[in-house]
Amino acid sequence: MSAFTYNARKLCRLGKKTRPILVMTTVCLFLLVFKKSLLKLQNDSPQQQVVQKPIHERKLQELKAADQPVVTAPKNTSFHFQRTNNKLNKPKSKPVKKLKEPDDDQNANQCYQMRDCSRMKPVSPKLRKKRGCEKRLPDTLIVGVKKAGTSALKSFLCFHPDVIASHFELHYFDVRYFLGIEWYLDNLPYATPKQKVMEKTPKYFIYPDVPRKICDDISPSVKIIIIVRDPVTRAISDYVHEDESRERMKVEGQRKDRLTPSLSPEMEAIRNIHRRIDKQNIERAGLNIFPKLGETFEDSVVDANGDVVRTNAIVDSGIYVVHILRWLEYFPRNQILIIDGDAFIKDPVPVLQQVENFIGVSSYFSRDNFYFDEEKHFYCVSKPEKSCMPKVKGRKHPNIDPKVLKKLREFYKPYDKWLVEVTGQNYTWMKYDKEF
Ligand code: A3P
Repeated sequence: MSAFTYNARKLCRLGKKTRPILVMTTVCLFLLVFKKSLLKLQNDSPQQQVVQKPIHERKLQELKAADQPVVTAPKNTSFHFQRTNNKLNKPKSKPVKKLKEPDDDQNANQCYQMRDCSRMKPVSPKLRKKRGCEKRLPDTLIVGVKKAGTSALKSFLCFHPDVIASHFELHYFDVRYFLGIEWYLDNLPYATPKQKVMEKTPKYFIYPDVPRKICDDISPSVKIIIIVRDPVTRAISDYVHEDESRERMKVEGQRKDRLTPSLSPEMEAIRNIHRRIDKQNIERAGLNIFPKLGETFEDSVVDANGDVVRTNAIVDSGIYVVHILRWLEYFPRNQILIIDGDAFIKDPVPVLQQVENFIGVSSYFSRDNFYFDEEKHFYCVSKPEKSCMPKVKGRKHPNIDPKVLKKLREFYKPYDKWLVEVTGQNYTWMKYDKEF
């Protein structure tokens, strides 16, 4: 008998003794393979392959499930942008990675090498990774009102370690919507998981369709901040600002748009379609979004018959209640914080504390952070570092014809009353019945 046959028989004998073990092992292996393929089959099932619903739809479902008050927004009719699978659609419930505290300056805004939002130089990619820095859509938007103190509000808030805001006004939901949400996200700052992301563009307040776009594209639960101030002083401030821009343009020409990328002919065409749609919406909604400048403030706000020119954005922007009602169509009242800009000028601390509470960050601001600058006549930051608003904020206002001021005050009075009714709060400028 050859060695081969001998060994084979030996193996068979062995097989007889161990047969039950072999059978058991085979059954186990089979079950294991079967389970795996079953799982794979489930994962590959068509239900799983369906593209995730957009974030606002999922958020609505989430809110409905939690039985919270929901504002139903009409479907996004925007044609150019369909989000499918990108990181914006990450479910909110994903557990947040616990991070160690930043290893260096505790006051630094952790993804950037500075304390405020003005010089956006990010820390190294390695440190960003370590600190969990990511780009996220805003948690809060300061949507207006132009010349009511939006810049001071944003730049003060930027000193809070748990707040990060884009340095520039991105004007995404008004004039750059055609660039798509990825452009918006790209231009927002990095944020740690703990930080609240903010963006401020005051034009959003009066522009058509912006509340719906924000509700659809960010979330119906995004927080909205609106700062208002005495509409007459706001109108003067607006005029002074626009007049200065007009003068500067005469000398320097049209300013370069640093944020809009150079556009392909296709993108140009898309932008033009957007402009046409916006124009139709502006007309249909009877909105007045363009400032019209006369030679003087008086010429700009009152016509030859002595009537207030409501169609001028310089006037219209101060009819706060009408615009706030458009925002209330998409966001519940408790999601909109309306700040009294005159109270903010007088004392920024209580207002900043109110904002901390509203956006859900820890208490940071106190009297220690501010001092009144006698030269500037406004509050400036003293801690963590000295910082005043630039010269263009807090400009000198011209003397205005008292008759025009009176006319404007009378014009705004009924809207102011209505504002109190709609918002359920009082405003400092209404306390003094100013006589001019
Ligand atoms: P004026 O320059 O007409 O005085 P915005 O930032 O929305 O454009 O608003 C500008 C206005 O913010 C300024 O208008 C100024 O009155 C007001 N403001 C509020 N707090 C300020 C501060 N601490 N420093 C400078 N301006 C401030």
